[in-house]
Amino acid sequence: MIKKITSIDDLSIKEINKIADDAIKFSLNKKKTKKSKVRNIFNLFLEPSTRTTVSFELAAKKIGHNIININFDKSSLSKGETFKDTMATLVSMNPDALIIRDQSEFSPRDIYNNHKISVINAGDGKNEHPTQSLLDYAILKKKFGNKKITIGICGDIKHSRVAHSNIKLFTKLNYNIEIIAPNYFLDKNNLLKINKNIKYRNSLNNIDNLDVIMMLRIQKERINKNLKSSVASFKNKYCLNMKHLKSKPFLMHPGPVNRNIEISDDVLDTYKRSLILDQVEMGVYTRMACLEYLF
Ligand code: CP
Repeated sequence: MIKKITSIDDLSIKEINKIADDAIKFSLNKKKTKKSKVRNIFNLFLEPSTRTTVSFELAAKKIGHNIININFDKSSLSKGETFKDTMATLVSMNPDALIIRDQSEFSPRDIYNNHKISVINAGDGKNEHPTQSLLDYAILKKKFGNKKITIGICGDIKHSRVAHSNIKLFTKLNYNIEIIAPNYFLDKNNLLKINKNIKYRNSLNNIDNLDVIMMLRIQKERINKNLKSSVASFKNKYCLNMKHLKSKPFLMHPGPVNRNIEISDDVLDTYKRSLILDQVEMGVYTRMACLEYLF
């Protein structure tokens, strides 16, 4: 069967837990990589990335696969080749899997439907970023086990693919979800289709009930209207500082962070319960587990 991870919807709870458990075992050095056939994986990044692209490359190499990195500037897309022709060209070389980050929503799903190859979505526009959610879950499972935690997600929910994948995943896990965002960064109708029980807040005050606060990046590249005023207003009211963290929740952020817009310097540099770099490290182990799931 040709497998794909184009959305959290592609995975059952059992598959999600298997990937998270394998990632945790890799992180604890308690799991050896499977001795499988060497695969050829194309790592196609048409938007900028540090964490996801490097961690997929490292993950593939740790498992013993070939990985070929392609980005927009070095591809013939930059010479005007259409996306459709580029895909047909890449698929003609018979990759065992294609990892893709693209600004177009649903392009990973469309590639799977059109070409019947294994596809991993490494972020499609503002739609989803499922492997980020899986690594976030692996971190949470390592810390909390199977406890039904309460997690606050604060930031630009509307344009965030991380928010959309995480809300789907945390809903499947029966976590209590609290969204903390101004109206201009909310897509409530869309979220209502995923989960009717989400609690909404418009401030970071009184968040003592949260086990975890997850801050998200303002997706400046996806905001066409009133960018400057939205950023200024968000920074004024929602930038996380030490006063918000009196009850010592764990802090997460998928990165990259806009310093002093989403999180203040002192929190980023000194807060002891930050998991931000643990998320980066778990990204490698989770992507190893995702590649093993695929093959
Ligand atoms: N979290 C995340 O996707 O980071 P990159 O854009 O650096 O890959």
